[in-house]
Amino acid sequence: SLEGYDHYMLKEIFEQPEALKNAIRGRLDEENATAIFGGLNLTPQQLRSVNRIILTGCGTSWHSALVGEYLLEEFARIPVEVEYASELRYRNPPLESDTIVFGITQSGETADTLAALREMKRKGHRTLALCNVVGSSIAQNADGGVYLHAGPEIGVASTKAYTSQCIVLALLTLYFGRLRHLSFEAGKQMIEEIKRVPAAVQEALSCDQQVREVAAKYQSATNFLYLGRQYNFPTALEGALKLKEISYIHAEGYPAAEMKHGPIALVDEQTPSVFIIPRGTVYDKVMSNMEEVHARGGPIIAITSHDDNRITEIAEDVIRIPEVPEFLQPIVSVVPLQLLSYHIALARGCDVDKPRNLAKSVTVE
Ligand code: M6R
Repeated sequence: SLEGYDHYMLKEIFEQPEALKNAIRGRLDEENATAIFGGLNLTPQQLRSVNRIILTGCGTSWHSALVGEYLLEEFARIPVEVEYASELRYRNPPLESDTIVFGITQSGETADTLAALREMKRKGHRTLALCNVVGSSIAQNADGGVYLHAGPEIGVASTKAYTSQCIVLALLTLYFGRLRHLSFEAGKQMIEEIKRVPAAVQEALSCDQQVREVAAKYQSATNFLYLGRQYNFPTALEGALKLKEISYIHAEGYPAAEMKHGPIALVDEQTPSVFIIPRGTVYDKVMSNMEEVHARGGPIIAITSHDDNRITEIAEDVIRIPEVPEFLQPIVSVVPLQLLSYHIALARGCDVDKPRNLAKSVTVE
């Protein structure tokens, strides 16, 4: 039931702190500074010898795969490829035998993801599912996996499943990292940081009222740009997808610095750019990308954890998010973007939970 919320999407956005707690629960091994997974069905020795990981999925799940790539490569030092399941199923990439394949999926029923995993399994690779729906087709087909425990997601736009996928990928990264190069101390620190995420997401949700006002301002725009770098490049893609699917406004997500290779031609007074610019290693770089958009008269909505006067000067709207380490930022910074798409869709009179032309799970090719 809606429990007092107007839509499932809004309810699910607000359920994220709880969903994240559920995804973390029972999975932290503080004594050994690592994570625990019951269903991988592979021994630590087998997992230790993995030397490539393929992450595959569709839509929003493909975005969390991108976050997973940044995480696993940085902290576990394992080479990762991210593949659209619809492409992977018909490709024939050369893969060594010690490659494992993760299918990422909320529903566990996405036809392309299922087919891609089956094809990889047929080739003799271990396949694992990172899935929300217990007993779903993909969960049953995979050799093992991890459940998200996000609870039922009913709104067509994926929200709590996405952030749960990201936190589970962070936990998997901790686990794989601790099998390899990550020290006990570094593992412990990651655990402490991961534990703080649900509260940070709770805090991020307090921007709701402000985001509603921003949405009212831009509800008639016909184009949006979403720009972020590194861990927040996937956030930009995800923000743009959320806006497209439920408010029917064209939006493009880009790595912020790619903008000057083409999309900057779209910038004008009618095209808002959403910058995801929390404090971190690429802050100054994203700032200069933001200056470029400002210089061309594009209105800016900045999502940041930083108290920087320059941002306030050049951005029309500044939405504050709490500070978390970079590897966890995608989970926090996506929250205002989910809310922005929700409020814009609502203001435009769109059917938020059941957008046109879309189904909750895509069980056809
Ligand atoms: O159930 P899945 O995670 O496999 O679904 C994949 C995509 O169809 C899904 O994420 C889709 O992009 C959502 N509507 C995005 O909000």
